[in-house]
Amino acid sequence: MSPRSCCVYALGVVSLLVLISGIAMVLSDVFPRFLNAFVKREVVLRNGTDAFEAWKDPPPPVYMQFYFFNLTNPLEVLDGDRPAVIEIGPYTYREYRPMEEVNFLDNGTKVSAVNTKTYIFQPNMSRGPESDLIRTVNIPAMTVMERFKDHSIIANLISSYLKSNDEGLFATKTVGDLLWGYEDPLLKALKVFRPNLDDVFGLFYKANATNDGEYVFFTGEQNYQDFARVDTWNGGGTLQWWTSDQCNMINGTNGASFHPVISKNETLYMFSSDLCRSLYANYVEDVSVKGVPGYRFVPPSKVFANRTINPDNAGFCVPAGNCLGSGLLNISPCKQGAPIVMSSPHFYQSDEKYVLDVFGMRPNKEQHQTIIDINPLTGIVLQAAKKLQINVFVERISTFSQTGNVRTVVFPVAYLNESVVVDDASAKKLQDIVEKQNIVVNIPFMLIGLGILLGALFMALMCQQKGPESTAAERQPLLKS
Ligand SMILES: *[C@@H]1O[C@H](CO)[C@@H](O)[C@H](O)[C@H]1NC(C)=O
Ligand SMILES: *[C@@H]1O[C@H](CO)[C@@H](O)[C@H](O)[C@H]1NC(C)=O
Ligand SMILES: *[C@@H]1O[C@H](CO)[C@@H](O)[C@H](O)[C@H]1NC(C)=O
Ligand SMILES: *[C@@H]1O[C@H](CO)[C@@H](O)[C@H](O)[C@H]1NC(C)=O
Ligand SMILES: *[C@@H]1O[C@H](CO)[C@@H](O)[C@H](O)[C@H]1NC(C)=O
Ligand SMILES: *[C@@H]1O[C@H](CO)[C@@H](O)[C@H](O)[C@H]1NC(C)=O
Ligand SMILES: *[C@@H]1O[C@H](CO)[C@@H](O)[C@H](O)[C@H]1NC(C)=O
Repeated sequence: MSPRSCCVYALGVVSLLVLISGIAMVLSDVFPRFLNAFVKREVVLRNGTDAFEAWKDPPPPVYMQFYFFNLTNPLEVLDGDRPAVIEIGPYTYREYRPMEEVNFLDNGTKVSAVNTKTYIFQPNMSRGPESDLIRTVNIPAMTVMERFKDHSIIANLISSYLKSNDEGLFATKTVGDLLWGYEDPLLKALKVFRPNLDDVFGLFYKANATNDGEYVFFTGEQNYQDFARVDTWNGGGTLQWWTSDQCNMINGTNGASFHPVISKNETLYMFSSDLCRSLYANYVEDVSVKGVPGYRFVPPSKVFANRTINPDNAGFCVPAGNCLGSGLLNISPCKQGAPIVMSSPHFYQSDEKYVLDVFGMRPNKEQHQTIIDINPLTGIVLQAAKKLQINVFVERISTFSQTGNVRTVVFPVAYLNESVVVDDASAKKLQDIVEKQNIVVNIPFMLIGLGILLGALFMALMCQQKGPESTAAERQPLLKS
């Protein structure tokens, strides 16, 4: 064999080996597996990791926006008409939410922390000042009336007190007062009988510069799927407010962090102390945020569906058996008995009845749907918007003339949109990771391509070599001449 044909055969063998190894790498998924294993090891709550720093002090700015519903026809409502409301907002606050009092437990497999949230008003991102007036339900009065509706003597006393103070079912308060708290005269009067009663009321009273209790999280050191998963909250592994064990479960993370290597078919669980329950989200579509690919996860309507549609939700009927329609959650057990009902903004995905009961509700997917966009490799949240509406259950109470002839209605007070978009620096970092991921993932395909190329070269050389042999007679003279 000539040295030349030896080279050609060697080329053939090499091309075959390259091709086979390329195909083997594709089939065994070796590079994606390697990459996933690397990310799973790195994305852990351990002092010093990027994941820990981002979890402790989230770099992107979080904004909390409030929209209020201003009641336009209070007198007609007391006469039994539908309430007509006008949406007013946003009133925007920058939300700072670092993890504080961080302590590692159990050899670094768990970490305890409190999540202190501070809200700073952003006038340039708001419709008006915090002193804007909003007419809505007098929530402390409604709470007290519900509480004492079956005690006719106390009810009469309270009713005459309200009358003499010219307080009724509706009240006009500033945005700042409604959110962060105001001293309520009725509560102040009741304080005489119940000295430990708090006479300040606000939807977010005591929520500024405080935390919602101590969390213990898994760090993901033992299993990547446990990254930032809540183990206990305020010392307990379950909630107490609901009437089934399933509904009382604390599932998933706090909704701000997710484990790495997320697949489209998984269910992401999260616990929300605002909502007093756990919920989950499923994949709906691919998205791109600032050039970084992500999966969009959305809580399916089933999460808030009524008992008929989703029997798992039976435990959210409180008191047991008292079920509201789809899309509504009565959180009074977790709000000291205040008749507060949560829903999606404008009763999006709720029973049509609630939308029709209030003039001015216009549910719409783009504006009112909660979304979470996550980079699937790292689990980093690229963009999120949590949207919740705070409603008050209003009904006629015969012992209180203040309620007039009002019809039973779930009255919308305000809704919030707590949103975040990944910051440019983190987006840049993620883009680099995604670029590397693409190169690494494509190595096997490049090898296959190279194998095919070398194979083609080998074929060409073989033909050329064979060619002269078969036509030796014809070519010999040519070569000689
Ligand atoms: C992390 O390490 C730094 C410096 O080594 C130390 O000051 C800090 O207390 C550690 N944090 C925790 C939560 O252990
Ligand atoms: C929240 O608290 C911070 C500091 O304690 C303060 O600067 C800020 O104005 C407060 N925000 C509201 C809405 O009261
Ligand atoms: C609003 O004002 C803050 C400072 O108070 C500034 O940091 C921010 O960039 C401004 N935002 C807009 C949209 O102008
Ligand atoms: C809400 O309605 C009240 C009563 O009509 C009015 O005084 C107030 O200005 C309205 N608020 C806004 C922000 O328009
Ligand atoms: C918590 O997760 C379990 C499955 O692990 C599920 O059956 C249950 O319904 C969930 N609870 C809530 C409130 O989401
Ligand atoms: C999701 O799909 C992947 C394969 O695509 C499979 O390995 C995994 O077990 C599935 N996970 C769930 C929770 O169904
Ligand atoms: C639950 O919702 C469905 C659809 O909206 C409705 O047909 C059904 O009557 C509701 N069930 C209850 C118990 O409210």
